[in-house]
Amino acid sequence: MFMMTTNNALHILITGGAGFIGSNFIRHTLEIRPDCHIVNLDALTYAGNISNLNNLQEDHQERHTFVHGNICDPQLVKNLFEKYSFKGIIHFAAESHVDRSITGPQAFTETNVNGTCTLLQESLAYWNKQGNPADFLFHHVSTDEVYGSLGPEGAFTEESPYDPSSPYSASKAASDHFVRAYNRTYGLPTLITNCSNNYGPYQFPEKLIPLIIGNIQEKKPLPIYGDGNNIRDWLYVIDHCDALLRVFEKGSPGETYNIGGGAERSNMQIVKQLCALLDRKLNRSPGSNESLITFVKDRPGHDFRYAIDATKIANELDWKPQYSFEEALGNTVDWYLTNSQWVESVRSGEYRKWLELNYEKR
Ligand code: NAD
Ligand code: DAU
Repeated sequence: MFMMTTNNALHILITGGAGFIGSNFIRHTLEIRPDCHIVNLDALTYAGNISNLNNLQEDHQERHTFVHGNICDPQLVKNLFEKYSFKGIIHFAAESHVDRSITGPQAFTETNVNGTCTLLQESLAYWNKQGNPADFLFHHVSTDEVYGSLGPEGAFTEESPYDPSSPYSASKAASDHFVRAYNRTYGLPTLITNCSNNYGPYQFPEKLIPLIIGNIQEKKPLPIYGDGNNIRDWLYVIDHCDALLRVFEKGSPGETYNIGGGAERSNMQIVKQLCALLDRKLNRSPGSNESLITFVKDRPGHDFRYAIDATKIANELDWKPQYSFEEALGNTVDWYLTNSQWVESVRSGEYRKWLELNYEKR
C-alpha cells in the first residue's frame, strides 16, 4: 500500500502529465498532498500542452518537474528512476483518440503498447535493484473500451471479458495484459484502473464535449456520428482524479478497479443539452444552436454503449463521484467560455509554440 509521509518528499513519476487527465491529476495531487514531488514525463505530442500547467501556484511549481521526453526511450526512463528513486508511477501517457487510431494505428502500438512495455521493464529493473519494495506501485490508467460494446442492458465489471473494437482499445487492452503479466510473472506490484468517458477543463477539442462547445461558439456544424443513439457513461475529470489517488494510495497490488460516473447519456442527449445550455449562456434564441446539428457518417466499429459497474471501488475503497452530471457539465461549459485564450490557442494550433522553448531534456 502506498502512503504519503510527512517527513520526506515522495517522488512520483507521472507520464502524460501535460495531457487532459494527467494535468488535472497533477494539479489535484499537488494541492492535497503537500509532501509529494511529481516528475512529469511527457513527449508533448499534438495532445500535450505544457500551458495546461501554467497556472500552478508557486509552491506547487516547486514540486513539479517537467521532463520533455518519450516513454519509449528506455535510457531516459532508467535515468529518471536512478535520479529520483520513485515510490511509484502513474502512467497516463497514450495516444487517446479513437478516430485517430482508425486513420493511423501505428502511433497507438508504439506509445500504448511499446511505451507501456518500456516503462514496465524499467520499473521492474529498478524494483529488483531496490530489493523488491512492497510499497512500490505501477499504476496503469486504462479505459472501459477494452471490454468492447454493451447492448441496452448491463454494465462492465472487473471480470468482464476483453473484447476491444478499435485499434485504440486494442492497444490499451494489450497494455493492460502486459501490466498483469508483469505482476503475475515477476511480482511487480501493479494497479489497473479502467474508467469511462472523462470530461472537464483542458480536454483537447477533438473529443465530443469540447468539440461541440467550440463549434457552438463558432456557429459551426455539430457532427453526430450515425444516429446519435450511442451511449457513454460520463465521468467528471475531477472525480476521476480523486478516484485515481484513492486507488494509488489504498488499492491492493495486482488488482483492477473500474471507475465510472454513473451518468449514462446518448450522444444526442449530450449535444442537445449543450445546445440548450449555450443558448442561454450566449444569449441566443432557444433552439438556435440545435439547428447546427449535422448527422455524419458513422465511426467504423463504433461501440454502441459503455457503462461501468463501480461497486468494487465503492465497497473496497469507499469512492463514489461527488459531482452530479448537470453541475459538472455546467462547470465545464463555464471553464471553456472563461478560458477563451486557451481554447483559441489550441483550436488554432498556436499552443505548439512550446517547440520554441527549451525544456530540460534529461
Ligand atoms: P490526452 O491525449 O489528453 O493526453 C495524452 C498525453 O500523453 C499528452 O500530454 C501527450 O503528449 C502524452 N504522450 C503521448 N505519447 C507519448 C509518449 N510516447 N511519451 C510521452 N508522452 C506521450 O489523453 P487523456 O485523455 O488525458 O488520457 C490519459 C490516459 O487516460 C490515457 O492513457 C487514456 O487512454 C486514458 N483514458 C482516457 C479517457 C478519456 O475519456 N479521456 C477515458 C479512459 C481512459
Ligand atoms: O470510454 C473511455 C474512452 O472515452 C477513452 O478511453 C478515450 O480515450 C476517449 O477518447 C473516449 O473515447 P470515445 O470514442 O467514447 O470519445 P469521443 O469523445 O471521441 O466520442 C464520444 C462519443 O461521441 C462516441 O460515441 C463518438 C461520438 N462522436 C464523437 C465525435 C468526436 C460524435 O458523434 N461526433 C464527434 O464529432
